[in-house]
Amino acid sequence: MTKSAPPWMDPDLAAYVDNRTTQPDEAQQKLIDRTHAETGGAANMQVSSAQGALLTILTRAAGTKKALEIGTFTGYSSICIARGLADGGSLTCLDVSEEWTAIAREAWAQAGVDDRIELKIAPALETLASLPQDASYDLVFIDADKENYPNYVDAVLPLLRQGGLLLVDNTLWSGDVVRPAEEGSTTAVIQAFNDRLAADERFESYILPISDGMTVAVKR
Ligand SMILES: C[S@@+](CC[C@H](N)C(=O)[O-])C[C@H]1O[C@@H](n2cnc3c(N)ncnc32)[C@H](O)[C@@H]1O
Repeated sequence: MTKSAPPWMDPDLAAYVDNRTTQPDEAQQKLIDRTHAETGGAANMQVSSAQGALLTILTRAAGTKKALEIGTFTGYSSICIARGLADGGSLTCLDVSEEWTAIAREAWAQAGVDDRIELKIAPALETLASLPQDASYDLVFIDADKENYPNYVDAVLPLLRQGGLLLVDNTLWSGDVVRPAEEGSTTAVIQAFNDRLAADERFESYILPISDGMTVAVKR
């Protein structure tokens, strides 16, 4: 199990929550282990297993038929979203890395969800601009380069149906968002993004303090 504890949370309480959350299945656990073994420090980019469980719950609760993920890495969050899709549902994944997504492709097959996932390798802003603008996604998960978060929200807005879910990872940035940040730093980028989304009348939003923070928003 990967840890979901935010750094400010009491470790015993965090373990309590983790232990009472749906656990990764065999295919998911294998992917967690493989990602740690083969990608080194990059493995910490993977969503926590508790976040993964939440992604499945939110995808299922929203009755998601069409989902979009920006930032796929080795495929853990995409498996979690794919597991929650309604019958006949599909997930489009965007990433730039052939190397990391080669692991994702194998993991999707092992998890039995490869039939509902399409992967597009290119800078995500290019792919988003090429998608049919009436695509009407039910759920979008953003977890790629942080500098582009505001651009991703602008680009997905027309693609997301009214009432659709927008999920954004790492929005508490290890808790650093409440501390002074150097101009141009990732912390400053995330702070500006959070301020902008909170003031954006096109969404209702909440920053869920799970793991590194995950914004849950609904398009009005
Ligand atoms: C934090 S990881 C995603 C983790 C993944 N959601 C998971 O839970 O395993 C970020 C990913 O975004 C990808 N990425 C970075 N910049 C990108 C861009 N401009 N367009 C598309 N993907 C990008 C990276 O290759 C990396 O795989």
